[in-house]
This record gives sequence, C-alpha cells and structure tokens, in this order.
Amino acid sequence: MSLPSPWRQFFPGILALAEQQQVWLDSAATAQKPHVMIDTLSQYYQLGVANVHRAQHQPGERATRAFEAARSSISAWLHAGAEDSLIFTKGSTEGINLLSNALAHQFQAGDEILISAYEHHANLLPWQQLALERGLSLKILPMDQHGHLDIDYAISQLSARSKVLAVSALSNVVGHQQALQPLLKAARHMGVWTVIDGAQAAVHQRPNLQQLDCDFFVCSAHKIYGPDGVGLLFARQRAVRALRHWQFGGEMVRQCNYQQAEFLPAPLGFEPGTPSTANIVAFAATLDWLQSLDSQAIAAHEARLHAAVLEGLQARGMQIIGSPNCALVSFNAPSIHHADLALLLGEQGVAVRAGHHCAMPLLHSLGLAGALRVSLAMYNNGDDIQQFFNALDQALEILQ
Ligand SMILES: Cc1ncc(COP(=O)(O)O)c(C=O)c1O
Repeated sequence: MSLPSPWRQFFPGILALAEQQQVWLDSAATAQKPHVMIDTLSQYYQLGVANVHRAQHQPGERATRAFEAARSSISAWLHAGAEDSLIFTKGSTEGINLLSNALAHQFQAGDEILISAYEHHANLLPWQQLALERGLSLKILPMDQHGHLDIDYAISQLSARSKVLAVSALSNVVGHQQALQPLLKAARHMGVWTVIDGAQAAVHQRPNLQQLDCDFFVCSAHKIYGPDGVGLLFARQRAVRALRHWQFGGEMVRQCNYQQAEFLPAPLGFEPGTPSTANIVAFAATLDWLQSLDSQAIAAHEARLHAAVLEGLQARGMQIIGSPNCALVSFNAPSIHHADLALLLGEQGVAVRAGHHCAMPLLHSLGLAGALRVSLAMYNNGDDIQQFFNALDQALEILQ
C-alpha cells in the first residue's frame, strides 16, 4: 500500500519501533515524539536548571523567561485571546478534575451537569463524583444511530438548572469529530459553563478557541507529539473568575499568615508547586515545529490512511463502532473476543489498543465487553496499514 509519510523521518521512536518490527497504531493513547521535542528537552537540561518565579539569580530568570515565553506561544497556538488564561496542568484528566473542584462551590442540590454518552472516564468520573457528593443530577446526552451526539436533543435538554456542559470534541472510541458550535451557543445563551475535552481532537485539528466559543478547554501534550505530564487548561476571561483555588502550596500566594491566605489569580494561583518547566518548554517547541508543517497535507494524509483502514475492515466484515470520520476506528470481529485478537496482533508486532478504552458505560450501552482500536498519526504510512491487515488476516485465520 503506497501511502508514504514525509514526516516519518522526524520521529526517531517510530523508526526505532520499525527496527524492532513494531507497528505503532495506538497514537490515540499516546503519540511518538519528534526530534525537536527530544532535542529541546535535552538542551534545556544541559544549560543548567532552576525553579521558575522564585529567584533573583540568572538561571532562575532564564527559566522563568523560557516558561512564560512557552505560555505565550502555546496560547497563540490555541488562538486564545490576550485576556484569557492558560493554566498548565499534568494532562486533560487533571484539567477536568481542576474544573470539577474549582467550580464545585457554584452548584446547589438539584443543579445539572450535562455530558455525552461517549465521554472518556476523565470527563465522566470527576463530574459523576461531584454530582454524588452534592446531590446534583448528571444528565447523559445520547448518541444517534451513527454514534454522533444528537445536537438538537442535547440543546432541548438544557434547562434553568443546567450549570455545566462538558463534552469531547472527538471521542476516543467513536472517532467522530463533532460540530459543537450550535450546542455551545445554546448553552452560553442559558448561562451554562461549557467545557470541551480536546484530548483527542487537538492533534488532528489545531484548536481555534476564538471560534470555538467555550468557557474551558483541556488537552494533553503527550497526545500532540509533546512530552508526558503536561496538560493545558484554557479558561476564558469571563469564566476564570468563577474558579475557586483548589490545590495549595508554593508560588500561588499573594499574602499569607498562619491562619489565612490570599491567593494569586489564574494562571499562577492554579499552578502551586514546581511546574514541569522543561516539558512545557519542549512542548512549546513541538507546537512551533508543528505550525511550520503543512497542516492541510497532514490532514489529507491522515484521511487517506483512515479511509484505507475503514475500507479494509469493512471488506473483512468487521463490526465498526459508529461512523468514524477522523484518525481512529474501533471495531470487533464477529464472534471473536477482542482480547484474543489483540494478543495475536501484538505477537505479530502490531500495537493497537484493546479493551473498554476508559469508556466503560459507552461500551456497555452498546452491549460490548470491549473493542479493538486502530489510531493514526502523521508518521504512519501505507506499510503500517498493510502490516496491520496482514497480521489481522493471520489472526482471523487462527481464531475463526
Ligand atoms: C477523549 C479523552 N479525554 C481525556 C483523556 C485523558 O487524557 P490524559 O490521560 O492525557 O489525561 C483521554 C485519554 O485517552 C481521552 O481520549
């Protein structure tokens, strides 16, 4: 299958895995890293390190400058406005936990939180636990028969009791990019805080937070070719004031005595402790590099790979979940347990994800114990897809 990737050469991890006869088709879990990310990390450490925001010495100033420059360039990548806040977190999971804690004081018993039926546990459990603790109602917005969020129905579910709407822009199971604007607009009109989980979407389409008129947006660096342990929480100016400080420690304090404290506003007031400075600087460099590439060519390449995966699975009679239109496909082979298939694929050097994909309620509602998932990134090529299908055919022959 001739679908070469001009960007493959920039990812030493993909080349190393290929030498180990491993095909990486699990980028929705985490993406391989480009040279620029690895080099920036190494250069940062080799220059000598310091904490940010807390020293007068030169290394401290240099670290602080690099850290805040990274914040500015990542904000620009998100198309955030100058008055909006970008809070660094450990990842999407921490970003949503931050929100469910920091907004908790806004709720009264009987208030509603709306999420979709296809949310990852990261965008379900923090809200579910908050609802249980506070006597709130967690409303689940259903999907239609294609696995898409039913937007009109979702809008009809907004009420005067609705406080938060939290949905992902791209499901990690269904793989369908949602057009959320009408829902966000309706929610905003009713004074509902809107949260977008961009963990899967951000790598395939650069977020434009001016256009996507949400209050909060989270994503994870490691899924966007960046380092582990860094996440972004964008908070619009109108919304950030609703947040109450939730974690406490160094470098977030304006004034403090033994009995009381006054905290800094966002972002620093929500970043207590020593941040992941080197990783944040390396992530900013990764995003700069991504912006230097032809994003349309990348999207077209990923779309061709995606079409090839879909077509090959359909030709083999696999049961596909929903109607995915972006970067990943979840499926099952009729009458074969997903774990058996995944084991045989793994033995043949093909890394795909298998299980409940941290979306147990969704899989159960579809009557499935689990599924396999192929997910794609810019460095995959036609040979990867061909090897996947060769391995799948072998496995099916054994198991059928
Ligand atoms: C849709 C979605 N949301 C949230 C997350 C959680 O991301 P992280 O583990 O980086 O916090 C994931 C991870 O796979 C995801 O796919």
